[in-house]
Amino acid sequence: MMAPSLHSSGKINTLTLKNRLILAPMQQRKGTLDGHATDYHVEHYGRRAGDVGLVIIESTSVSPEGRLYHDDISIYSDSHIKPLSKIVKAVHNKDARIFIQLSHGGRKSYPQHRERLVAPSPLAFNDDYGTPNALNDADIARILDQYRQAAIRSKEAGFDGIELHAAHGYLLHQFLSPITNHRIDSYGGSANRRFHFVLQVVLAVREAVGPDYPVQIRVSASDYDKIGLIPLQVVNIISGLAQLLDAVHVSSGGLTPNRPLDVHPGYQIPYAAIMKSKLSLPVIAVGGIHQPALAERVISEQLADFIAVGRPLLDDPDFAGRLLGKHPLLSTER
Ligand SMILES: Cc1cc2nc3c(=O)[nH]c(=O)nc-3n(C[C@H](O)[C@H](O)[C@H](O)COP(=O)(O)O)c2cc1C
Repeated sequence: MMAPSLHSSGKINTLTLKNRLILAPMQQRKGTLDGHATDYHVEHYGRRAGDVGLVIIESTSVSPEGRLYHDDISIYSDSHIKPLSKIVKAVHNKDARIFIQLSHGGRKSYPQHRERLVAPSPLAFNDDYGTPNALNDADIARILDQYRQAAIRSKEAGFDGIELHAAHGYLLHQFLSPITNHRIDSYGGSANRRFHFVLQVVLAVREAVGPDYPVQIRVSASDYDKIGLIPLQVVNIISGLAQLLDAVHVSSGGLTPNRPLDVHPGYQIPYAAIMKSKLSLPVIAVGGIHQPALAERVISEQLADFIAVGRPLLDDPDFAGRLLGKHPLLSTER
């Protein structure tokens, strides 16, 4: 069999993507105060959809108290559906597919706007965010329902699939990591119990959308902390969800202010490659994969199945086309 290339089509669940490039989810901070997407988003995503197989739109809040910023976009009410569906149409018109990224910020939710800052345990990210309230059983049931409703609305808006944001220190990640989850009930105390909430979220979403609808997860493969999650633990977490998920998107960090010591091009590729070697799910690599030779190697050597590209596509909407050799590279990109 021929080795795959960036140009090869790929599959996530029943969905075929025309190539292996993905627009990484990136906050635009251009939502209305009540979390509605605007014409800005329609233009922004439509303009960047031409050369990628898949657009993943920015983190979109399932709950008013889980918004990441006062100007992020949300999907906690039916009124959010219509503006989101305009983004979907603009991307479909460019012959690309589009996923929504569903999130809840937990202790990293927008503090000034908060109705009530919540998290698995009352541990602050930093002084700016402040100390969250520990979630009780009723809160957890409410958030699970918010994920369920958000999943149904995502489908109604026409998205081709869902990415659950369990990376970068937001609520799902906060449950998974021993740094942020000090609970002693059925949601904490052992790796299995820390996994419980995320399993319930994935089950709720899968049940809401059915077996054929793509659902993937974005994880941080490392907490960059000696008592935090390490890649093999994250592999175990994903193994426990593999039957329910269609792909895994491998990022890192964000749980605490700790940052990796060395951020070089493709620094997260080894994390994606570990997932790829241990799991039978499609894997998305991301992070500084901005050179055609590097991107091509990740795919042809099957270190990952897809590559998500972030920042260069903000500055240059044609950047994916440059990676594919459709447009010339700018001198800084070689
Ligand atoms: C402005 C900006 C906003 C971002 N917003 C999100 C987001 O909403 N959700 C998410 O999972 N990652 C977010 N990220 C991380 C990107 O998806 C991506 O992982 C990161 O930029 C590394 O890829 P790159 O080197 O190709 O830019 C954001 C990054 C940037 C620069």
